[in-house]
Amino acid sequence: MSENVRQKLQLNATSPSVIKKPSKKRRGSKVGSSAKKSTPAQPKPEELDFEQAAQEVIFEPNPGPQTKFLAATEQEVLYGGAAGGGKSYAMVADPVRYLGNPNARMLLVRRSTEELRELISVSKQLYPKAIPGIKFMERDKTWVAPSGATLWMSYLDRDDDVMRYQGQAFNWIGFDELTQWPTPYAWNYMRSRLRTTKASGLPLYMRATSNPGGPGHQWVKRTFIDPQTPNKSFHATDDNGEVITWPKGHSREGEPLFKRKFIPATLFDNPYLSDDGLYEANLLSLPEHQRRQLLEGDWDINEGAAFPEFNRSIHVVDPYDIPNNWIRFRACDYGYGSYTGVLWFTVVPGSEQLVVYRELYVSKVTATDLADMILEIEEEAGERIRYGVLDSSLWHNRGDTGPSLAEQMILKGCRWRPSDRSKGSRVAGKNEIHRRLQVDEFTEEPRMVFFSTCTQSIAQIPSLPLDKNNPEDVDTHAEDHLYDALRYGIMTRPRSNIFDFDPSAQRTGFQASDPTFGY
Ligand SMILES: Nc1ncnc2c1ncn2[C@@H]1O[C@H](COP(=O)(O)OP(=O)(O)OP(=O)(O)O)[C@@H](O)[C@H]1O
Ligand SMILES: [Mg+2]
Repeated sequence: MSENVRQKLQLNATSPSVIKKPSKKRRGSKVGSSAKKSTPAQPKPEELDFEQAAQEVIFEPNPGPQTKFLAATEQEVLYGGAAGGGKSYAMVADPVRYLGNPNARMLLVRRSTEELRELISVSKQLYPKAIPGIKFMERDKTWVAPSGATLWMSYLDRDDDVMRYQGQAFNWIGFDELTQWPTPYAWNYMRSRLRTTKASGLPLYMRATSNPGGPGHQWVKRTFIDPQTPNKSFHATDDNGEVITWPKGHSREGEPLFKRKFIPATLFDNPYLSDDGLYEANLLSLPEHQRRQLLEGDWDINEGAAFPEFNRSIHVVDPYDIPNNWIRFRACDYGYGSYTGVLWFTVVPGSEQLVVYRELYVSKVTATDLADMILEIEEEAGERIRYGVLDSSLWHNRGDTGPSLAEQMILKGCRWRPSDRSKGSRVAGKNEIHRRLQVDEFTEEPRMVFFSTCTQSIAQIPSLPLDKNNPEDVDTHAEDHLYDALRYGIMTRPRSNIFDFDPSAQRTGFQASDPTFGY
């Protein structure tokens, strides 16, 4: 048992303030049966006191994080941490305050329909008591309040599902269990649906809850946890950790766009579950990794990481000038809707150490624009790139509709050869990354390092989850575009001496002299 847990157990056993049931007399944000009548257009959470003398309190937030979550005024808030902290319950309670506003249009999503059912059932316990006359339309999974306010309870599984919300506007959007989404795509897309009229008097909020772990652990951590200490408001940052600002030419050019906050939760914050200790005992019985995530809400632990040997102090180096005569090549995994990852490599002569010296991680860039971007970067650096390897599926020609994406890039002058797609190449690629991460017994250096400027790769690769059904592979649902690029690059048998390199030896189905592709 870790010291941390032991302290908490002692605290739990000795401190009545941690386990006592919240007093119904305590003033705070409460949702009672008069909520509809007294909900002001833009209520401050601390003003949300609907309790009247003889009124039954339907919901009273637990002191601490649950209250903080409901009181937060940042546009995007993650309430995340230990299991059973009362996160989902708070998520369902949060929109109630707006159900009295006829302009309120709200959306609460989970990843799948089965998971959604759980939330719907909690809402069915709460809403009819809080808002008399509210109706749940089973077919549309939508709550309609007598005021006209609506709350749609929906699921959002694949990226394409966001199209269901195209053209819609919401003033409040909630994602329960955010790390279930492998990439930030849905979360980012839904931000474009967050709007309301000025006259509505409604704030614009995106709210998320989550446990650590899950396929989206890394991007959620990067978005909400890494930028700032918990419970502190911060300006939203992009994938590179830069504050997102209004664009050039805008009257607010350079100003930060909006704020975020992370509110950590632990089981001990929720007396409804923690005071009898039964659930806690179940969590304590879990293996170390899971226990630290689910009982302690530890975001630094990523259970089942595919590359636990990755170590920043060994595998990340300060950038240095790469001599012109060292071989350079690049690899790319392309995705328009999700992300494109491009990595540039060099090999140190003598030690044959592979160096990932540059990365490009972009979204919504067409193949031809990507070709331009890559060529511009390389031209600016005055580099000679010996070869590039690209996801072989980009050679697929969709009937007679024109050149494949690979050809489009090659026609621009950005040359590629297709990656190995043979059976077993994923497993072999993962294996080769493990070999490269090892410290070579002769050189006493790792066989692969990353320049510290490759921040995305350094964040993503060490925390890629293993595939639960196949420990020989990573979970392909995770954010793995840079990993795939790494795999493609690493499997080209990189050598410091180009004459050792024989492209025709690759199992790609393309001849070295293929005139179309120029190599
Ligand atoms: N303010 C509250 N008032 C009454 N009951 C509460 C309150 N907060 C939480 N609970 C109770 O605690 C239970 C667990 O809370 P909840 O399901 O929200 O936890 P969670 O943090 O979402 O857990 P998980 O991490 O497993 O998803 C709820 O089902 C509910 O019964
Ligand atoms: Mg939950």
